[in-house]
Amino acid sequence: MGKMVVYPGSFDPITNGHISILRRTLTIFDSVNVAVAENPMKNTLFSLEERLAMIRESIKNDNNVYVDSFDGLLVDYVESKNTNVIIRGMRALSDFEYEFQMSLMNRKLNNKIQTIFMMTDYKWFYTSSTIIKEAARYGGAIRGLVPDIVCQKLKEKFDHQ
Ligand code: COA
Repeated sequence: MGKMVVYPGSFDPITNGHISILRRTLTIFDSVNVAVAENPMKNTLFSLEERLAMIRESIKNDNNVYVDSFDGLLVDYVESKNTNVIIRGMRALSDFEYEFQMSLMNRKLNNKIQTIFMMTDYKWFYTSSTIIKEAARYGGAIRGLVPDIVCQKLKEKFDHQ
C-alpha cells in the first residue's frame, strides 16, 4: 500500500474546485481519503449523508479515492488512518490566515502530522460553497462550478423551500 493522504472539509457541498484539488493530489500521492466533518463549525445546508452521497457520486470514476466521515479532532482521525498528511486547498490570500491557524493548531495537537497546501486552479479562485449556494438559492446558473449531481441536489433543495 502506498502513501495515502487525508483531504478534510465540510464539503457542503463538494465543488469542482475540491475535485480539482483531489485529482491533482492523486498525481503526487497514491490515494486520497476524503474526510467529511460530521459536525463542522458551520451550519450545513446538506446533511452528512447527503454530503457523502454527492461526493461518492462525483468521484465514482476515480480510482484510489475513499470517502469517509469523522467526528472529533482531525489529527486523531488522520492518525487512525495510519497516515501523517493532510491536504488542503488554498485559494485567494483570504484563505491564508484561517489555514495557517488551523495547521498550526493541528501541529500543536500532534506534531507528527504535516499539512500540505495545494494551490487552487485559477478557475476556482473566487468560488466557495457559500457563494455557490447563494447563487443557486436565487436560481443563478452554477453549472460548471459543481458536479452535475450537486447542481441537481441544490435545485431540489431550493425548489422545496
Ligand atoms: N475550490 C473552491 N472552493 C474551495 C476549494 C477549492 N479548491 N477548497 C476549499 N474551498 C471552499 C469551500 O467551498 C468552502 O467554502 P465555504 O467556506 O463558503 O463553505 C471553504 O473553502 C472551506 O471549506 P472546506 O474545504 O469544506 O473546509 P472547511 O474549512 O469547512 O473544513 C475542517 C474545516 C472540517 C477541516 C476543520 O474544521 C476540522 O478539522 N474540524 C475538525 C475539528 C478539528 O480538528 N479542528 C482543528 C483543530 S482545533
